[in-house]
Amino acid sequence: MSEFEGKVAVVTGGGSGIGEAIAKELAAAGAKVVVTDIKLDAAERVATSITEAGGTASAFEANSAIAADNERMVAFAVDTYGALHLAVNNAGIGAAPQPIGEYDVAAWDRVRSVDLDGVFYGLRYEIPAMLAAGGGAIVNMSSVLGSVGIAQNAAYVASKHALVGLTKVAALEYTAQGVRTNAVGPGFIDTPLVRSSLSAEALSALESEHAAGRLGTDAEVAALVLFLLSDKASFISGSYHLVDGGYSAH
Ligand SMILES: NC(=O)c1ccc[n+]([C@@H]2O[C@H](COP(=O)([O-])OP(=O)(O)OC[C@H]3O[C@@H](n4cnc5c(N)ncnc54)[C@H](O)[C@@H]3O)[C@@H](O)[C@H]2O)c1
Repeated sequence: MSEFEGKVAVVTGGGSGIGEAIAKELAAAGAKVVVTDIKLDAAERVATSITEAGGTASAFEANSAIAADNERMVAFAVDTYGALHLAVNNAGIGAAPQPIGEYDVAAWDRVRSVDLDGVFYGLRYEIPAMLAAGGGAIVNMSSVLGSVGIAQNAAYVASKHALVGLTKVAALEYTAQGVRTNAVGPGFIDTPLVRSSLSAEALSALESEHAAGRLGTDAEVAALVLFLLSDKASFISGSYHLVDGGYSAH
């Protein structure tokens, strides 16, 4: 029997990149997956590719930064598949590099509203559904920038740090009732977006900041997330797990 057979999962920001890889791996391991994204067409592309591969998935349009969208997302999962057991609060955005003294306040609000408020709203509605289902597991997508800073990225760095704290509180409140919550901190991942936004020199410099000498892959992040969602991680809750190729080791 597949590891996640009989489990229902939601993956926010599942229409691209890391979320897409997680959604596909969860479905390949037997979970029924609700792929949510602010871009419905992106979520639909991923859900279709899962069903074409023999898995079970539905697309759902939701803006993580809106509380009511998170409530609707959870209700959709429960209505469609009968329960909710697993959640990956993965949707996240960045902002143009800028120092704090000149920071565009609207950009601060935009990043925080998705990267931090969105995770809180997810937890707010996922946890009651998981308690009703008899237990569950949640992964919040932080970043290596949830434990170290980089200049020119205040909103992202602050939000990714804050959600590590939020993860701890969720674990303190609900682990004994059967809902584990952890955070994951990827280093820089080799996505088309990262690659296309950097010059060859900048890409090579970024690669060398990882002890591995390269960027990570979506699959390497998904592997850690699936482990944390699985029963193999039954005594792991409230912690922050790096998958950063040694970026933060120096
Ligand atoms: N790529 C990296 O190097 C890296 C490193 C560390 C952490 N992360 C984190 O991993 C997560 C996924 O990043 P990615 O690289 O796969 O990005 P991505 O841009 O490829 O995918 C993010 C997805 O989230 C969706 N999204 C954006 N705003 C949303 C919103 N308000 N509501 C719902 N969906 C929304 C986008 O449409 C997109 O499909 C983010 O939280 C990011 O901060 C990425």
